[in-house]
Amino acid sequence: MTVIAIVNRKGGSGKSTLATHVAAYLASRGQEVMLGDVDRQQSSRLWLNLRTQQLPKIHGWSIDENNFARPPAGVKHVVLDTPGGFHGFNLMKVTMYADAILIPVTSGVFDREAAQETLRELRTLPRIATGKCQLGCMGMRIDGRTRNGTALHEWAETQAIPHLGTIRLAQAYSKCMERGWSIFDFPIEKVAAYREEWQGLTHWLDLLLSAAPAAPGSRLERPEISRPPSSLILPSTNALRRA
Ligand SMILES: Nc1ncnc2c1ncn2[C@@H]1O[C@H](COP(=O)(O)OP(=O)(O)O)[C@@H](O)[C@H]1O
Ligand SMILES: [Mg+2]
Repeated sequence: MTVIAIVNRKGGSGKSTLATHVAAYLASRGQEVMLGDVDRQQSSRLWLNLRTQQLPKIHGWSIDENNFARPPAGVKHVVLDTPGGFHGFNLMKVTMYADAILIPVTSGVFDREAAQETLRELRTLPRIATGKCQLGCMGMRIDGRTRNGTALHEWAETQAIPHLGTIRLAQAYSKCMERGWSIFDFPIEKVAAYREEWQGLTHWLDLLLSAAPAAPGSRLERPEISRPPSSLILPSTNALRRA
């Protein structure tokens, strides 16, 4: 089992957007994935409820922030969305099971400061300090080619945390969030520019999954390129624009 948690103390930093996209990416590769929502707002849970059956399946898991337990047995991969202000004992419990923690970071010095505090706390935890749980950060609502993109990259270097990519500010993401979609649910040729921004993260996820011990008898031990069946009606980019 691979557990990936999305953490940042700051609300609105893009945790749910990142969590839903990570889960959707894994599902698009034919992986059995569960999206757990520790957040009281339950954005990821709502997103999951909006997801139609034609899209790659993601299992849901509602968890209480204060009663976080070990992910259910038999699940292949778990993506955990967490609330703003998530720290202390709750963060420690999640880290006990997590193989990787992703920190979404938006632009601006205060946002980086919030991410830095999260990072500081994470590094005091044994599984992070020993490297058993990996860290990565993702720029959210930032154009990677701009000064904000460079500032984030430099910040990540000073923090010695892998910077896995930068997602620009685009209406497509808020629409995806409102409709149970992700950029990975569209044919690649329709969303090529968006998908490019995810390449660093998806490569990192592929490596993370291929390094995880395979569950006995599991169908897919490694990620595979899977094309959606022709019967799968995916929303077109025009539909996304119109929606
Ligand atoms: N790249 C993006 N472009 C446009 N809107 C975005 C993007 N990323 C996130 N958002 C929007 O920003 C808001 C906060 O993001 P969200 O993922 O809910 O953050 P958090 O879970 O950390 O509170 C949401 O309305 C979401 O749709
Ligand atoms: Mg959220």
